[in-house]
Amino acid sequence: MINKPQVIVIGGGMITEVQILPSLYQLKRIGVISDISVCALNGEPLKRLAESESIKTAFPGFSFRSFPDFTREPLDKPFPDLYKEVLDQADPGSIAFIALPDQLHYNAIKEALGRNLHVITVKPLVLKYKEAREIEELAFKKGLFTGIEYHKRSDDRALMARRHYRSGDFGEFMLGQATMVEPWYYRNSNFQNWCTKENSDMFSYVGCHYIDQVHFITGLLPVEISVYGIINKYPNGKEGYLYTDGRVIWNNGACLNVQNAMGYPDIAPGGNTQGLQMLCRGEKDAGYLFHQDQYRGIKYSLLKKGTQPGDTYYNEPSPDYFKYVEYGGDGLEPVGYGYRSIQKLLNCVNEVNARSDLDGRREIIQKIDQAGILATPANSYYNELVMEAGRLSITNSGKPAVITYGKEPSVKLK
Ligand SMILES: NC(=O)c1ccc[n+]([C@@H]2O[C@H](COP(=O)([O-])OP(=O)(O)OC[C@H]3O[C@@H](n4cnc5c(N)ncnc54)[C@H](O)[C@@H]3O)[C@@H](O)[C@H]2O)c1
Repeated sequence: MINKPQVIVIGGGMITEVQILPSLYQLKRIGVISDISVCALNGEPLKRLAESESIKTAFPGFSFRSFPDFTREPLDKPFPDLYKEVLDQADPGSIAFIALPDQLHYNAIKEALGRNLHVITVKPLVLKYKEAREIEELAFKKGLFTGIEYHKRSDDRALMARRHYRSGDFGEFMLGQATMVEPWYYRNSNFQNWCTKENSDMFSYVGCHYIDQVHFITGLLPVEISVYGIINKYPNGKEGYLYTDGRVIWNNGACLNVQNAMGYPDIAPGGNTQGLQMLCRGEKDAGYLFHQDQYRGIKYSLLKKGTQPGDTYYNEPSPDYFKYVEYGGDGLEPVGYGYRSIQKLLNCVNEVNARSDLDGRREIIQKIDQAGILATPANSYYNELVMEAGRLSITNSGKPAVITYGKEPSVKLK
């Protein structure tokens, strides 16, 4: 069994640049993984990744294997199936890290599992509950780890809340509000090509983070979803549900309002606005949780403004998700729950790889599933049911969609 797995990242876009590749470089720096390859549809994003100033500053001398080779192929020539050839070459026990648009996750995950590779995927795992179950069963049969990178689960404040809630310190969740609003300039990015009304919406795209977090904290399951969506045009003329208001009813009758949008001002002092509020019921008084997740008490007024969209003179950066800091060595190291989440998932793969027998590998996978700290298909399948219900509701003018659990969980309009 290999000691240090190779990682093949499929998808070289925004999330690969801001979180995945630098996290993998750090894990390579500290000896957790070996080779890193990145596959994209064409060479253009790969060139951007290779030339990223922030990554080069943090990781001088680091590189990835590029598929297609952006130094040789025309940057806009598409290679939609090249990732399969790259997976063919991977050593057993290696990892396919899926960072593709949502609707492409399912096929790529099946291709990877079919070649006996572990899978780590950005959220959402897939768009349909049945696909999630299929992936869970296939991976378990082969003793392969599948993890979903819900990085908010590695935010210490979510872990603190989970411990308090499960110790009974808050009482029972009754009513809550969650917000995640991404910046306006996202409309100019590749989102406009895929996050369109046929494929997705802001509730599906980012609403899932806090729905997952409320389950993560409380253990409750969502049973009814209604989502009202407002359609706006992207700069390329395509249409997306860019403002959504969702209502999630939980299996104890609690209600969470979830507001999402691609509408945080570019000139505002931060990357987005986000947070969670939960009112809980105790015996004689109320329990209460309030997380202001976009703002962590730092205020900067800078003399120079960065060159990236959303960079501002005055800003309020969050040190919690992903930042580069000095560590006393060459370059910089990433810190924050975005890095920790990937590190923990990689550690799971190494734990599974350390066992050469199928039963032993399955035992580790079940242990991770049951611990519930990292998202796996077995412990977070409700997210796919929420996605299905949310899509059903938003495309039916916000009518409620009901999730039924049991042997064959399903979703239907109320
Ligand atoms: N907070 C989070 O957890 C978070 C944040 C952002 C994105 N995401 C998820 O990450 C995924 C990607 O998002 P993004 O913002 O990076 O998107 P993006 O549009 O910036 O990048 C998508 C990438 O996929 C590549 N691609 C498309 N088809 C391909 C193919 N056939 N073969 C190889 N590569 C192909 C494109 O070249 C591009 O590099 C989505 O599922 C999104 O929901 C999660």
